[in-house]
Amino acid sequence: MPVRGYRVAPGGTLVGEVGVPGDKSISHRAIMLGALADGATEVTGFLEGADSLATLAAFRNMGVQIVGPEAGRVHIQGVGRDGLTAPNGPLDVGNAGTAMRLLCGLLAGQPFESTLVGDASLSRRPMRRVTDPLAQMGAAIDTTPAGTAPLRIHPVDRLHGIDYAMPVASAQVKSCLLLAGLYADGETCVTEPAVTRDHTERMLATFSCPVQRDGARVCLRGGSRLTAAPVAVPADISSAAFFLVGASIAAGADLILPAVGVNPTRIGVLNILRAMGADIEIANRRDCGAEPVADLRVRSARLSGIEIPRDQVPLAIDEFPALFIAAACAEGETLLTGAEELRVKESDRIAVMAAGLVALGVDAEVLPDGIRIRGVGNGRLTGGTVHSHGDHRIAMAFAIAALRAAEPVVVQDSANVDTSFPGFAALAAGAGLDIEETAAVAAETAQ
Ligand code: S3P
Repeated sequence: MPVRGYRVAPGGTLVGEVGVPGDKSISHRAIMLGALADGATEVTGFLEGADSLATLAAFRNMGVQIVGPEAGRVHIQGVGRDGLTAPNGPLDVGNAGTAMRLLCGLLAGQPFESTLVGDASLSRRPMRRVTDPLAQMGAAIDTTPAGTAPLRIHPVDRLHGIDYAMPVASAQVKSCLLLAGLYADGETCVTEPAVTRDHTERMLATFSCPVQRDGARVCLRGGSRLTAAPVAVPADISSAAFFLVGASIAAGADLILPAVGVNPTRIGVLNILRAMGADIEIANRRDCGAEPVADLRVRSARLSGIEIPRDQVPLAIDEFPALFIAAACAEGETLLTGAEELRVKESDRIAVMAAGLVALGVDAEVLPDGIRIRGVGNGRLTGGTVHSHGDHRIAMAFAIAALRAAEPVVVQDSANVDTSFPGFAALAAGAGLDIEETAAVAAETAQ
């Protein structure tokens, strides 16, 4: 089967205004909480990407009536906390780690059996980080011997709340346990070792089910009901990241990104790029429902390598593929440590990015928990062929790298870009990236 890819001509710039699609994390949660709420939820700005559509399909399969999406609008007829029905087969969430881990918690409290399956990449990712604490709550979930999906979730008589200190800073684990906690006796509390995205807590509050926060610990009382409320999804800062980096590294760039989510638990990419010398203005701060948004203006800048502060790692966890391209185009060395989580994302993002950077003539050294990148400064990347290993964010990161390359950049396997950013190539082309999306390019060279 031909594999889609990109061929991106070197140089060019990014100018004008780019409206990036809705936030993936918030889109998943809108479907989940809307489905469990009493009443009807209207979602606007929903991400029509394969990942959030997989969540939508899973809830339809459990008896929830959902109309849309149409131009980002979704109408969810909530069935109430106890209204889901048994699915008619395994729930296939494709590439979506957030769907699998959050659903696992939610399904642990249901009176029916269910099975969660995913694609090859998701089936390699660790699931014991959710199944172990769920087992402590009394859940009965089978994984493979390697602790991976398929996940078979058996009904149990009762779940009970736990007080859990997460060993890794993970919003997916925190959210999974809070969703299971809705069905548990007593209180479920989760303590995070570092700040992680708080969209679940914000949306639960919007749905009249407040979570108590005390420092790094969040607690939720079992048995609470959710009341439907409208959800307006901001533009995804993780998708905006490719344009923030692209406009920083390209000569003559001046780009506006309107209504991007700037939740303080997500803005590591802004903090890190600004520390590297990026020219990013954050204007018109306002609220979009429970989430803060702003218009971002980014212009070309001379970037310098930095040591990335460890406290920024969870706040920028999905943006490192793009940030590594910024580092490759900076003057001097960028050092990232404390980021072993990048090895268990949609791909091993340390190894795959390092291989691609080396293919583009960049000096990149893999570390057990990070990477060291020596930037080309005033120079250019060479151009060449890189493989995304099916990772959406790696495909997009290398596409924008062409803005500072001497020769074309060929990206093999861009199909999964549809999981988070459908229409990326067209939007980037509209702003000035000379990108061609083609099946043939990758088919010639696919391994
Ligand atoms: C997400 C949390 C993060 C992030 C993922 C989305 C979420 O994962 O990488 O893309 O929506 O909660 P971890 O919880 O594994 O850090």
